[in-house]
Amino acid sequence: MKPIKIAGVGYSLPKSVITNEDLTKLYETSDEWIYTRTGIKERRVVSGDETAIDLGFNAAQKAIAKSGLKPEDFDCIICAASVPPQLYPTLGCTLQAKLGIPNNIPAFDLTAACTGLIYALQVARGFIGTGIYKTILIVAADNNSKITDWSDRGTSILFGDGAGAMVVTEAEDGIDDILSIKVSADGSIGHFIYTDMPGQCCPLVQQASKVGDGKIHMNGKEVYKFAVTTVPPYVEECIASSGLSAEQIDYLIPHQANQRIIESIQNRLKYSDDKVISNIKYYGNTSAASIPIALVEGVEQGKIKLDSTAILCGFGAGMTWGAAVVRLRKGIC
Ligand code: UT7
Repeated sequence: MKPIKIAGVGYSLPKSVITNEDLTKLYETSDEWIYTRTGIKERRVVSGDETAIDLGFNAAQKAIAKSGLKPEDFDCIICAASVPPQLYPTLGCTLQAKLGIPNNIPAFDLTAACTGLIYALQVARGFIGTGIYKTILIVAADNNSKITDWSDRGTSILFGDGAGAMVVTEAEDGIDDILSIKVSADGSIGHFIYTDMPGQCCPLVQQASKVGDGKIHMNGKEVYKFAVTTVPPYVEECIASSGLSAEQIDYLIPHQANQRIIESIQNRLKYSDDKVISNIKYYGNTSAASIPIALVEGVEQGKIKLDSTAILCGFGAGMTWGAAVVRLRKGIC
């Protein structure tokens, strides 16, 4: 397999902030209840005509600028999108046009919910590793707030909008930035988190179908149990196959779903707080974008020093989950 370089990372967040206090206008809840159970104080949401396309575009522009590449250098676009503004054209195709990336390359969306960034990285690794493509733009962008049931206090406290992007290329210097990567799924527990598409049968058939409401439905307790039992040992397996020990890895950059889930991984790895990147307090769960947002913001805030290594891990609807041990080169964000 050809080695892969992570060449640039970027993120974008909408400006509108919804605090826990704001949510008390929608239903009976409190900042104390939400914060103690999730670690979330506020989240960002799109407003007006702003969509995940705008967020993904901004994040991609930043990642491309950091990589030093030009739009014409790309030969594939993969978008990790579970809640795109349009099912088609895909977010990948829309961003290709907006970014001015030449039209003779493939662009597609991949749906793995909150694990989308790690799935996309694994697919990109397959393409680059086997020489099919050399320079891939990954964008993780969702407008979760548009399919959130804002009357459901069990789900609407959790999600926020945001986008992250990553440029990956063949590593000309032979140094592989992906030390190990694993992705998995268990469709038999898919009912833990689901969104039914709106739509119905042809009016000419005899039996009408149930009409999906297009909203997020979640069994929070089951998802929580799944995450704390599945993800920590999985992360350990991923670390074991990287050839490094947990102590040798500098940072844990987990999917930001619930502070208590993050702590369950932290405790398993026996990591001190300074090794664990958490910004869930301000953004909630931005699905596949949460890892790149945490990475770049961690660098901006001086919590992450580049020229280091990190374990990325995530889980989400599907159920899907994944982990990767990566090298973070200087200058990627
Ligand atoms: O990427 C994957 C994303 N999903 C997750 O990571 C979700 C993981 N799960 C969780 O984070 C937690 O399950 C939640 C934070 C969503 C919920 O916490 P919980 O401790 O599992 O609460 P619960 O749903 O079992 O509800 C406990 C009680 C219920 O009242 P009763 O039936 O005991 O009287 C709920 O009605 O808390 C009530 N409740 C609330 N009360 C105030 C539920 N949501 C709220 C709320 N404010 N927002």
